[in-house]
Amino acid sequence: MDLYEYQARDLFEAHGVPVLAGIVAQTPEEAKAAAEKIGGVVVVKAQVKVGGRGKAGGVKLAKSADEAQQHAEAILGMDIKGHTVHRVMIAQGADIADEYYFSILLDRANRDYLVMCSKEGGVEIEQLAEERPEALARVNVDPNTGIDEAKGKEIAENAGFPAEQHDQLAHAFVQLWTVFSKEDATLVEVNPLVKTGDGQIIALDGKVTIDENAGFRQPGHSELVDEQTEDPLEAKAKANDLNYVKLDGQVGIIGNGAGLVMSTLDVVAYAGEAHGGVKPANFLDIGGGASAEVMANGLDVILGDEQVESVFVNVFGGITSCDAVANGIVKALEILGDSASKPLVVRLDGNNVEEGRRILQAANHPLVTTADTMDAGADKAAELAHSARTDK
Ligand SMILES: Nc1ncnc2c1ncn2[C@@H]1O[C@H](COP(=O)(O)OP(=O)(O)O)[C@@H](O)[C@H]1O
Ligand SMILES: [Mg+2]
Repeated sequence: MDLYEYQARDLFEAHGVPVLAGIVAQTPEEAKAAAEKIGGVVVVKAQVKVGGRGKAGGVKLAKSADEAQQHAEAILGMDIKGHTVHRVMIAQGADIADEYYFSILLDRANRDYLVMCSKEGGVEIEQLAEERPEALARVNVDPNTGIDEAKGKEIAENAGFPAEQHDQLAHAFVQLWTVFSKEDATLVEVNPLVKTGDGQIIALDGKVTIDENAGFRQPGHSELVDEQTEDPLEAKAKANDLNYVKLDGQVGIIGNGAGLVMSTLDVVAYAGEAHGGVKPANFLDIGGGASAEVMANGLDVILGDEQVESVFVNVFGGITSCDAVANGIVKALEILGDSASKPLVVRLDGNNVEEGRRILQAANHPLVTTADTMDAGADKAAELAHSARTDK
């Protein structure tokens, strides 16, 4: 479960990470009152579970309470990448001297945690990772020891911070590690972590993902669930312009054309009867252009569904030929990397099918099985989902 920034801020504060005052408001009047309470310059921040709010106009500086009210008026109800803004946070304004980046995440492939840290924060981190990978330090963290002061200093040093900042940064990193471990998080990201004009280190924006599997020992976390917003997978699909409907099964489905996808659902449901009653997990029509990006986005959404145990990709090549689709699948798996972890059964037919099958065979991806017919593909996908489920 992803948290809102204000929820992340509260967790940070509870674990001693330096943050600024922040008050949530649901109306412009509440925003004004919050700004009056905080006093001085404030920032009105849209609370949506998506990054890039600043660029989308969802983060605005206000020099007075009246101005905060006006900004709140404009930001509440705004749509940011498919997410409607229902709340804003009124945050104390920071005097920013420098913006840094810091995150802790799960590194499944390495069976440990990964810290990423950079002196160049505030920007889109994906962009930085791509354009200037050397500016982004990556430090693995042993789950048994976590981040202590020594590890914190190592991270600061690796990210190229000057020696006089190491102690102060290490201290903040240790507190952020406390958030990560004590709250059973799978992601803690601070972008930006700032240095203020008077030399303080403050977490100015926080993104936290909570591992819901740990809910049994985190009674406080149920309060963080936001029932007001829609299903997060559907929201994510919407943000990527995908026609996705979540269903209650185990076999993820990707197809092109609503008719083909509908019949794929039927065929998978039928095949599932022979395999422990597994069912289709979703409807997803990727339409005509099965580009790598669309395929990756589609797979990403489907694999984000915790119930999914296998995926059936059923594509009929028309204007978009099978070789383009096959290349799309291969590239999509590259893009997704470790986050693609469930077996894929691919059935291609139609325009240029031989070449499409050849590409998949040549790629020889360990997760991919091919099928010649829709029935065979559905059967295989159902079988894989059933055996994964019984293995648990
Ligand atoms: N409390 C604050 N005081 C001053 N500037 C802020 C504050 N919060 C955010 N900003 C500025 O706005 C930018 C974007 O805000 P941020 O919270 O990171 O949202 P997002 O990452 O969604 O765009 C930050 O990089 C920072 O420059
Ligand atoms: Mg940010």
